Amino acid sequence: MSAGAAAAGPWADPGARLLVTGGAGFIGSWFVRDVLARRDGTRITVLDKLTYAGSEANLAPVRADPELAARLEFVRGDIADRDVVGPLVAAADAVVNFAAESHVDRSILDPEAFLVTGVIGVHVLLEACRLERDRALAGERAVAPRLLQVSTDEVYGSVETGSSREGDPLAPRSPYSAAKAAGELLVRSYVVTHGIDAVVTRGSNTYGPYHHPEKLIPLFITNALDDLPLPLYGDGLQRRDWLYVADHAGAIEHVLRFGATGETYNIPGSAELTNREVVAALLGRLGKPWSLVRSVADRPGHDRRYAMDGSRLAALGWHNRMPFREGIAATVDWFVANEGWWRAIRSGDWDAYYERQYGARLAGSTRAD
Ligand code: NAD
Ligand code: DAU
Repeated sequence: MSAGAAAAGPWADPGARLLVTGGAGFIGSWFVRDVLARRDGTRITVLDKLTYAGSEANLAPVRADPELAARLEFVRGDIADRDVVGPLVAAADAVVNFAAESHVDRSILDPEAFLVTGVIGVHVLLEACRLERDRALAGERAVAPRLLQVSTDEVYGSVETGSSREGDPLAPRSPYSAAKAAGELLVRSYVVTHGIDAVVTRGSNTYGPYHHPEKLIPLFITNALDDLPLPLYGDGLQRRDWLYVADHAGAIEHVLRFGATGETYNIPGSAELTNREVVAALLGRLGKPWSLVRSVADRPGHDRRYAMDGSRLAALGWHNRMPFREGIAATVDWFVANEGWWRAIRSGDWDAYYERQYGARLAGSTRAD
């Protein structure tokens, strides 16, 4: 999207009323915990469907603090439900949309929910923002709400060399990333056509505490703690640029406050590494052997590499704080100390998912030396 006027509005003030959709997930809950912990009067309503990936346990630290708890409202509901979304957007200064189906492997197995949330859900949020913009124009509210759409580096597709800039063509290659690209394009269309105030962020591979155990880093940490095999896809030389969750959440808040209307901002990580390098780092921290790693059949359409240019975000004044070496140590230590959290998630439907995703792969696996 092209640059617009610099941000200024109630969403940027202490005491803002934020609607955080998907705020019971990994990155969304970090954002909620962080913003409320500033104790600046900001009030947050979380709208979350509590899919398999969302948990109110992720907001427990807020509930445990009476002052923070008083400024958090939790609504269980779907961003694709206009009856739920309308009144919540009407009461908000800004909407930060984290809600999505977020796991690439699941989008290969069962894509429909990705489209319903990523396309229809975003459409419903946009229609609610459009209505509020009309109310602002009619003098029925002071300022229209700002929408921040949380997107991903995966919309650029696999980047063999160099790094993606915000104006590069979108070339998603999985149902997950195609749905995320569609959501972004809808946002842009409402900025251009209806003049709503929206910004988009494209974040890199994020890791840290509260990361759902289906993803590479937490899956391998929790499997290794139980001395289970670690299913490494293909040759394990795929490259990702790892971003600590506190840096991702902080950058999103920075863009919400200071981003220019209609603009898109890459949020790169702090370390481009092969999957093998990541696995070696987490095993080293755990003191577990590489012999746990198994080479398994690759992910279909597996993107080889992601890398983004971060100069636009840097010019806005944001810089990551957490180096990978420290971030992975903190993450491993958190999973070691929070066994109850991840064991609760690795129960119920977990075994059926694990068997479907990894059963045949592990049966046909080889050593990953
Ligand atoms: P997550 O899967 O941990 O959390 C998603 C949350 O959204 C869950 O709480 C879930 O219950 C909720 N949700 C799903 N569908 C919903 C619906 N229809 N209505 C309301 N709530 C719904 O995901 P995450 O890793 O925290 O990612 C958050 C956002 O950031 C996503 O939009 C994702 O595409 C994007 N992103 C993630 C990463 C990453 O590495 N994790 C990187 C870049 C961008
Ligand atoms: O790049 C941003 C994206 O990062 C986000 O938009 C997604 O929501 C998020 O899930 C993540 O996607 P990835 O597919 O890159 O992450 P994942 O943790 O699933 O996989 C990371 C790498 O590890 C990838 O190359 C696939 C590989 N992998 C993953 C799993 C789950 C394995 O080798 N084995 C596994 O079991």
